[in-house]
Amino acid sequence: MRPRTVFLSGASSGIGHALALEYARRGAHVALAARRKEPLEELARAIEGAGGKAFVVPVDVSDPAAVKEAVIAAERALGSLDMVVANAGIGHSGHAARLTMDSVNEIIDVNIRGAFATILAAVPIMLLQGHGHLVGVSSLAGRRGLPTSGAYSASKAALSVFLETLRIDLAPSKIRVTDVQPGFVATPMTEKNKHPMPFKWTRDKAARVIATRLERAPAMIAFPWQLTLATSFARLLPSWIYDRVVGGAADR
Ligand SMILES: NC(=O)c1ccc[n+]([C@@H]2O[C@H](COP(=O)([O-])OP(=O)(O)OC[C@H]3O[C@@H](n4cnc5c(N)ncnc54)[C@H](OP(=O)(O)O)[C@@H]3O)[C@@H](O)[C@H]2O)c1
Repeated sequence: MRPRTVFLSGASSGIGHALALEYARRGAHVALAARRKEPLEELARAIEGAGGKAFVVPVDVSDPAAVKEAVIAAERALGSLDMVVANAGIGHSGHAARLTMDSVNEIIDVNIRGAFATILAAVPIMLLQGHGHLVGVSSLAGRRGLPTSGAYSASKAALSVFLETLRIDLAPSKIRVTDVQPGFVATPMTEKNKHPMPFKWTRDKAARVIATRLERAPAMIAFPWQLTLATSFARLLPSWIYDRVVGGAADR
């Protein structure tokens, strides 16, 4: 399945920006969503300069009504929505002793409510079209509680579980659902990390691999294989062993 029309949230930077360029290179018409209009317009100019088609939709995904309007506007501008990628996300880390509800709410508003709203806005459109591919960008960090990342890990676990239910519910209606679980990717989000980021990919490599693997509409895309394997194994560990393995990182 090669989508001809793609809505991408979080297209102003990082993985979403690279994915928009990748889909434009593959001939898709793209709707670019994020809060900052300038980088979106710059990206749209680059895409159109190379002969592609891009539609800019500035939106804050933490406002569900605005997200719905943005998705509807994108469908009108592009003529259909073959794929919707809920990629916008934020991540702060902080030790549980210093975690505040303000920072937890921010993460919930973007990573959970924002992603759910983006996906749900597309469902009626795809049901009417009779096809479509819903994609959420969660994280390998959602597979188990990571030290100092309680809110982020929990938000990504919530998104993965949500996507799984949607995949099952929507299977009879020819709407495919994919959960993308990246490991570390070099983007503005990870620039500030001081901890080691093993097997970190560039955003271009991540975008290429995501777009290629999405063609088969799998239930899940996880990378790199080393961290995918390690986190799959970590899920099987009893808590007392898991705590010993990752516990040292909690003191940072
Ligand atoms: N980088 C990694 O190692 C990594 C690993 C696993 C998963 N992920 C996930 O991949 C996704 C993309 O991350 P990234 O690394 O590319 O981060 P990034 O470079 O910081 O990009 C985040 C994108 O989300 C948008 N965004 C943030 N808040 C928003 C809001 N309220 N409304 C609309 N757009 C919003 C930002 O645009 P504006 O600021 O213009 O709104 C930006 O385009 C995230 O969901 C992240 O959790 C990343």
